[in-house]
This record gives sequence, structure tokens and C-alpha cells, in this order.
Amino acid sequence: MMLRVHSVPWASVSLWLCLVLDAARVALGDVTTTTTTTTAATSNMTDIQQVFAEHGVIPDVIDVAPKEFAKISYPSGATVDGGNELRPTQVKDQPKVEWTAEPDAFYTLFMVDPDAPNRQEPKFREIGHWLVGNIPGTKVEDGEHMYGFVGSGPPNGSGLHRYVFLVYKQPAGRIDFSQAPRVSNRSRNHRLNYKHREFVKQYGLGELVAGNFYQAQYDDYVPTLHAQLSSGTE
Ligand SMILES: *[C@@H]1O[C@H](CO)[C@@H](O)[C@H](O)[C@H]1NC(C)=O
Ligand SMILES: *[C@@H]1O[C@H](CO)[C@@H](O)[C@H](O)[C@H]1NC(C)=O
Ligand SMILES: *[C@@H]1O[C@H](CO)[C@@H](O)[C@H](O)[C@H]1NC(C)=O
Repeated sequence: MMLRVHSVPWASVSLWLCLVLDAARVALGDVTTTTTTTTAATSNMTDIQQVFAEHGVIPDVIDVAPKEFAKISYPSGATVDGGNELRPTQVKDQPKVEWTAEPDAFYTLFMVDPDAPNRQEPKFREIGHWLVGNIPGTKVEDGEHMYGFVGSGPPNGSGLHRYVFLVYKQPAGRIDFSQAPRVSNRSRNHRLNYKHREFVKQYGLGELVAGNFYQAQYDDYVPTLHAQLSSGTE
């Protein structure tokens, strides 16, 4: 009879032991909880990162995905959902924007179109559609309205444009925006070739806490919007 135990290398025995012990810990529920939590958080981040990258919002507008999707809904009932297509008619009025906010913190909200006059040759990238600073919590209506909201006005034949909403946390409370331009919803002043990243840098805005975007192409509301934008000088 042959005794072969001594021919099993010790390394394999201890590896085998580790595997058995790991399996036992998993079976006992030892590590299951932490594993599940980590996976959920990671897949969320991956989702957001993926959606923004798939549509080229990363890198065209931002470098890193926001922490969460902002919830955006229009009086028409339309909602913004990671690049879904909406019609200019559906998004003509100022939407409600919500995100996870600290009640004592202040936020800055942007809406920009990086695809003007079209996505192939975006020589006016970006168009500033909306800019509100010093928003207490998520009370956008109580913020400092710098650029009046204007909906989507993609020229006829220019294809789909992306309309991107971004919410940055202001790292140290209120900011003095008194030197920043004020633009009404009846004017194109300061809207073309807007660089929201420069504003973020200039005013030292902090973390990109939320964002979302939709796409839109020409519909018969666009001429009305363009007439509105030509109706004022302020
Ligand atoms: C993560 O996913 C859960 C479930 O799908 C969702 O309820 C939650 O809002 C997501 N969190 C973020 C930050 O998007
Ligand atoms: C929009 O473009 C299409 C195709 O180029 C053209 O047939 C149509 O007349 C245009 N509509 C308007 C309102 O200019
Ligand atoms: C433009 O802004 C004014 C003043 O905030 C507001 O009363 C009006 O409803 C806005 N018009 C459109 C079409 O959004």
C-alpha cells in the first residue's frame, strides 16, 4: 500500500483550506451584506457614467458623471431621462428640477446645448439656456436667476441636439454673482459660445451633484421661440 500524503504540496493544502473557509463565511452570511451594498452603489455609478458617455456628454460637456440623475419634469408632463427624445413643444416652459440636496447648502443650476448650430460642427458650443445660482436646497424659484430659461430651438434640418442640465454644489455657501451677466428669456445676449466649465472654475463651484439630459430636433414651436429670443435687448 502506498502512502502518498507527503507528495501533496503544502501550498495546495493551505489554498484549499482558504477556499473552504471563504465558502463557509459566505454561507454564514458573513460577507454577503457588504458585497450587496457595494455592488448596488457601483452599478449606479456605472449606469450614470455609461449613459453620459454613450451620448458623448462626457467629454463634450463634462469630464466625470454627476453623482445622481436630476429629476426633471415639465408642465406638459414630459420628463427628462438620460438622452430621451422630446419635442420643443413639450419642453417650452420652465421645468421642475429636483436632486438630493442638503437643506443648508446652495447650488448652481445650468442648462446648456453643446450642439449648436448642429452636432457635426458645433461652432457655437455651448448655448446657455438657463443659469440659476445661490439656490437654497432645491428651491430653484428662490435662487438668483442669471439667464432666463429658454426651451429648445434647434434649427430646421440641424438634427438632434443634446440639452444638458447640471447641478453643482457651492462649496462655501452663498456666492457673490453680482458681476455675472443677467440675460432675459427674450434675448440671445451672452448665450452663444457659453462655456459653463469656465463659470464653474471662475466661481469655484464644487461637486457636480446631479445632472440629466434629453435630445430634441426641430418642430413647429421653434419659430415661436426664435421670435421670442429676438423680441428683447436685455
Ligand atoms: C441607485 O439605484 C437605486 C435603485 O435603482 C435608485 O433608487 C437610486 O436613486 C439610485 N441612486 C442614484 C444616486 O442614482
Ligand atoms: C424644414 O426642412 C424641410 C426639409 O429640409 C423642408 O421641407 C421644410 O419646408 C422646412 N420647414 C420649414 C418650416 O422651414
Ligand atoms: C419669460 O420670463 C418672464 C419673466 O420671468 C416670464 O414671466 C415669462 O413667462 C417668460 N416667458 C416664457 C415664454 O418663458
